[in-house]
Amino acid sequence: MSKSAKAPGEFWDRRYDGDDYVFGQDPNLWMASHESLLTEGMTALVPGDGEGRNGVWLAERGLVVTTVDASQVGVEKAQYLAAARGVEINTQIADLRDWNPPKSTFDLAVLAFVHVDVDERTAVHHRVAETLKPGGLLLLEGFSPDHLGYGRGGPSDKIMMFTEAGLREDFADMLDIEHLAEVKTVIPDSERHGGPAMVVQLRGRRKNR
Ligand SMILES: C[S@@+](CC[C@H](N)C(=O)[O-])C[C@H]1O[C@@H](n2cnc3c(N)ncnc32)[C@H](O)[C@@H]1O
Repeated sequence: MSKSAKAPGEFWDRRYDGDDYVFGQDPNLWMASHESLLTEGMTALVPGDGEGRNGVWLAERGLVVTTVDASQVGVEKAQYLAAARGVEINTQIADLRDWNPPKSTFDLAVLAFVHVDVDERTAVHHRVAETLKPGGLLLLEGFSPDHLGYGRGGPSDKIMMFTEAGLREDFADMLDIEHLAEVKTVIPDSERHGGPAMVVQLRGRRKNR
């Protein structure tokens, strides 16, 4: 188990301590590339939103946003960013591994670089997918094992990273997968892990059943 997985709140509180936004204030590019699918009034859940860059960007587009993170410091910074941008977000502090979210509630869920323990990952992914209404959209991006030794940042343990096969298995019963690929990308310099990266990107829709 990684250091961050044991007590994610404490680990990320230390990371987020200070005025800088560790992952910047601009949105995750994979999420933002789907802007044309987003409409005002949609409900969005952003688990592991950290300092709030993604939730705030969605709220600026008129979505009704709920974020959840284990880090109190991150959540406070997310609220500060929302206020500075003149929008509101609902925030919760919770560990995604023992969290009981509402089912079939959201139009959109976004997971950006939320790497939990391998033995908890499928359950967390299931729970997030279950929060979606039928037809609701899930956007996920995270590091693939090929990122190790290639770029900066990400879990140090390959087992916590995402493979296409692992994600396909996690979401098999829950989502119609529209896009799933490992890609070489460049994370913007505004983010702590800025630079070349190997990531897996997924877009899926909650099955109608
Ligand atoms: C790499 S950061 C990414 C933050 C944000 N998604 C972004 O893209 O800017 C991972 C985030 O996931 C949160 N996280 C990791 N494990 C978690 C858990 N078990 N429960 C709640 N939050 C968790 C951390 O607190 C941290 O804010």
